[in-house]
Amino acid sequence: MNKRIEVILFKGWAWMVLSMLLAAVNAHAQTAMINAQSRHTTSLNGEWNVILDPTGIGEWRQIWQERKPLVKTDFVEYSFEGSPLLKVPGDFNSQMRELTYFEGIVWYKKEFSYAAGKNKRLFVHFGAVNYLTDVYLNGEKIGSHEGGFTPFQFEITQKIKPGTNSLIVKVDNKRLKNGLPGLGYDWLNYGGITRDVNLIETGNTYIEDYSIQLRKGSQKEVSGWVKLNGADKQNHIKIRIPELKFERSVKSGNNGVAGLQFSSSFKLWSPDDPKLYKVIIETETDTVEDEIGFRNIAVKGNKVMLNGKEIFLKGINIHEENPFKGARAFSKEDALLLLNQAKQLGCNLVRLAHYPHNENMIKQAERMGLMVWSELPVYQHIEFSDTAVLSKMDLMLKEMVRRDRNRCSVVIWSLSNETYDGTPNRTKALASLTQVCRQLDSTRLVTHVTNSQSYNNNAFKVWDSLYKYTDIISVNEYIGWYIPWQGKPENVTWNVAFPGKPVFISEFGGEALFGNVSEAADEAASWREEYQQQIYIKQLRMFNTIPNLCGVAPWLLFDYRSLGRMHPVYQKGYNRKGLLSEKGERKKAWFIMEQYYKRK
Ligand code: GCU
Repeated sequence: MNKRIEVILFKGWAWMVLSMLLAAVNAHAQTAMINAQSRHTTSLNGEWNVILDPTGIGEWRQIWQERKPLVKTDFVEYSFEGSPLLKVPGDFNSQMRELTYFEGIVWYKKEFSYAAGKNKRLFVHFGAVNYLTDVYLNGEKIGSHEGGFTPFQFEITQKIKPGTNSLIVKVDNKRLKNGLPGLGYDWLNYGGITRDVNLIETGNTYIEDYSIQLRKGSQKEVSGWVKLNGADKQNHIKIRIPELKFERSVKSGNNGVAGLQFSSSFKLWSPDDPKLYKVIIETETDTVEDEIGFRNIAVKGNKVMLNGKEIFLKGINIHEENPFKGARAFSKEDALLLLNQAKQLGCNLVRLAHYPHNENMIKQAERMGLMVWSELPVYQHIEFSDTAVLSKMDLMLKEMVRRDRNRCSVVIWSLSNETYDGTPNRTKALASLTQVCRQLDSTRLVTHVTNSQSYNNNAFKVWDSLYKYTDIISVNEYIGWYIPWQGKPENVTWNVAFPGKPVFISEFGGEALFGNVSEAADEAASWREEYQQQIYIKQLRMFNTIPNLCGVAPWLLFDYRSLGRMHPVYQKGYNRKGLLSEKGERKKAWFIMEQYYKRK
């Protein structure tokens, strides 16, 4: 091989090694400022140019450099000019046929101009990107983020230039052994820039974070704080709740934090009366408005209490998917579509499986009087012995709690789903994650969803080393579907290790293809509606035998896309446990559940 080619290859190799080293030291994204929607934002939503990169060669080609041929003999094997366009927000799988099942890399590009005001700061804020994200501005890498369901941001005050700026985002939704989730999950893990992208302009010192919630156990006392970010950390901060004629001024210390304690007679938020108050937080250089509900959630003995009264949690499981589009849900319209059905079923709680959903879901639930169960994608097989996984869990928890800490609809933080008691380091890791969660937020209930169980001679036993760390014991069980009945449902005996805590059935149900009906409905393999209906009838009879039952949540509201559900007649890439088909058609089981909740 001649010298010239050797030199070129060496240079290419050297560049690759250098860029990988740089990537290793490259900046992590910042945990995002909260309440982005109420800030001074410029939306970058809309059509972005994309380059599909199934082999990952884009990294070696340094796509972010946006090279152009310089002389006649030059050529460059990528270009955003003339490339396909994808809508942001939105997953890429549902926007291009060739991406339907794609798990890999797509490069996105958006050009924008922005003239930041004097003494202003500028951030680029992502509502979420699934799963690994590298962000470049005008050819310079500004940072990375891992995690598909929580917001993050980068400050670009010193990086923006007059005229046109080029923002390039590398998105990779490949499965990772040490990812959250890991290699196995029962949903289509849509990739892409799946939520809003905004430029956010703030003053030199801005309101980064705050907590304005009732103190645990009180219906009158708020115990909170406001955190500023910027040079003038010591600042006068005013909090106003006009409807209550409440105004309080506090002063932040040199750490930028101001404590906030006050009492008032609030109209408490509840599913029957989802009262929200306008809350205004202002400093000399920043103002943020929020709509905050005040309520109290607690466990008292074996009961769940809302505002001091026992409440039965009438739940439903929901994946973040618009069933009619077969796409990742993200908009207010998507939230209304899903939550209206939950209300029609008679629910007062939605379990947003198995990852934090978009803010529209949480805020819409608040307005509609639906309590929210929010969950981390610590799902089944997780590499708990990998220290990187422990840091990822901590960061994802911090991002989830920070974003929704002031959302009264969120009443339960669920930190895992069906992980295995025997996995090395699993219980130790999740016990410590639970502790961190309680330090971040002392007001909500914390749980882990388990399925360590046995069912013999019509006796159902559940146990898990995590029970001692949780406020409620959450159990997924599929008697009647994955495990056939062994006797009459009303005769099932329950043995719950760690008795005395409230028990929540976080998943139950079975599959049926809407419209597949027949009198002879005694075989699971026919995917008959009647078979699913029978599961529900029997499950509801069994619920009366469960000690301390504080609530249930069928799995799940709509049929949804999951690549492992491959029966060519009955599933066609869908998990069919929905009470509704993906077209919104009500299966027979829907009416069984609707009646149950009406009677509760
Ligand atoms: C599990 C799991 C769900 C899954 C369901 C099923 O319990 O939590 O994510 O979809 O069972 O098998 O349908």
